Amino acid sequence: MSQSRFAAIILAAGSGTRMNSAVPKVMHPIAGQPMIAYPLQALQPLAPGATVVVIGPQMEAVARTVAPAQTVVQDPPLGTGDAVRAAFRAMSGRLSPQGEIDEVLVLYGDTPLLRSETLARLLAEQKQAPAAILLAGMRPADPGPYGRLISGPGGRILRIVEAADANSEEYAIGVCWGGLMLIQARHLFELVDGLDRNNAKREFYLTGIVGLASDRGLQCRAVELLPEELIGINTRTELAEAEALMQRRLRRGAMEAGATLVAPETVFLSADTRLGRDVVVEPNVTFGPGVTVGEGARICSFSYFEGATIGAGARVGPFARLRPGAVLEEEVHVGNFVEVKAARLGAGAKANHLTYIGDAEVGARTNIGAGTITCNYDGFNKHRTTIGEGVFLGSNTALVAPVTVGDGAYVAAGSVVTREVPADALTIARGQQVDKSGRATEIRARLRRKNN
Ligand code: UD1
Ligand code: MG
Repeated sequence: MSQSRFAAIILAAGSGTRMNSAVPKVMHPIAGQPMIAYPLQALQPLAPGATVVVIGPQMEAVARTVAPAQTVVQDPPLGTGDAVRAAFRAMSGRLSPQGEIDEVLVLYGDTPLLRSETLARLLAEQKQAPAAILLAGMRPADPGPYGRLISGPGGRILRIVEAADANSEEYAIGVCWGGLMLIQARHLFELVDGLDRNNAKREFYLTGIVGLASDRGLQCRAVELLPEELIGINTRTELAEAEALMQRRLRRGAMEAGATLVAPETVFLSADTRLGRDVVVEPNVTFGPGVTVGEGARICSFSYFEGATIGAGARVGPFARLRPGAVLEEEVHVGNFVEVKAARLGAGAKANHLTYIGDAEVGARTNIGAGTITCNYDGFNKHRTTIGEGVFLGSNTALVAPVTVGDGAYVAAGSVVTREVPADALTIARGQQVDKSGRATEIRARLRRKNN
């Protein structure tokens, strides 16, 4: 059993009305992964004693994404306080004084920029000076719709007032709540149970527990954190802002790990992109999810990758597209207008121009001429192409799969290969050239007469 004395509740049941989307808000991706994955990843190093994600009805996709974390369905979603009550019921057996958990950390699923270090800092602050409720405060440039922290003597927080319920004086307060709070488990049920819906939105606000706690003489305080980490995503505009912040963070991380990004602001990374040391990424490259690049590889402009592995010293692009299952071993060259999908190219193989390689195995040092296509699809099924080592495929070769080309074979340009090419064979599979001497002059003369 975990030694952690805290449990985490992540709220994700809201309908996300302001996104105007058929997709649950927390499933919208940031840097290639759903927003909801971020708080879970931030929690991981802290090993919470339990993690419960509160989802809404018909959010099976969210449940699948957060698995193996436990999910609880809040049906109907009646506000953030009601969501915490739903989670509390699911974990109540484990809460203090008899259970192993004595603090509950509530995180909002729409707050993806929060880092582990910041969560750890909040937990450490609580250990040093325990409060009934410890809040993450922030001063965003535009406090807009955030809840305002109303403070009293000695820095105590008396209440949180939601923007929709604030009078003009309260609305003018710049210190807001950032969607993250740590609550002593022994007070949680009583506080959440005391909430009502007498507010502008007719919801059970979680933020209401701060007023309830302070009215009972319990101490609530706030730690001020960076707004860049606490930005909550409620609209598409905020989604784009969070994407920009995340990209800046990922680019910085990639450069610190030893990659050169020639124009970082034009390179788009996914949360799981791995760039080795001395990788050079030229301007305008997109890394979708699941891409790893080995040491010293060069990625040229306007390339687009997802689910691909690029070996050390490889050279890819400009204008290359690597789709899921593309594996380029060391020193492979893949050039302009080349697409690779579910295919492995052995060390030193080259496909420099205008090629499609799909569902294929290409041996080491094989040269794939311009315009080569693996014809992998018959309209119903995909078929594999196997090309050996040290093969030379002439320009415009069509390989009609399933088909195999043996090691060291030489395939003449323009060939349509429909059956096995033996190792070290020269294969010519194209129409014969016929030269009729002087016929061009005759034809021209005939056409000229006709047109006059
Ligand atoms: C909330 C806070 C606000 C704070 C801001 C920080 C409340 C009432 N307000 O406002 O003080 O400054 O976050 O970002 O808490 N959710 C549920 N069940 C529900 C309703 C919401 O699980 O019934 C989830 C949502 O999916 C979301 C999170 O709770 O992940 C917050 O809800 P949201 O509607 O985004 O609250 P905000 O208006 O942003
Ligand atoms: Mg929000």
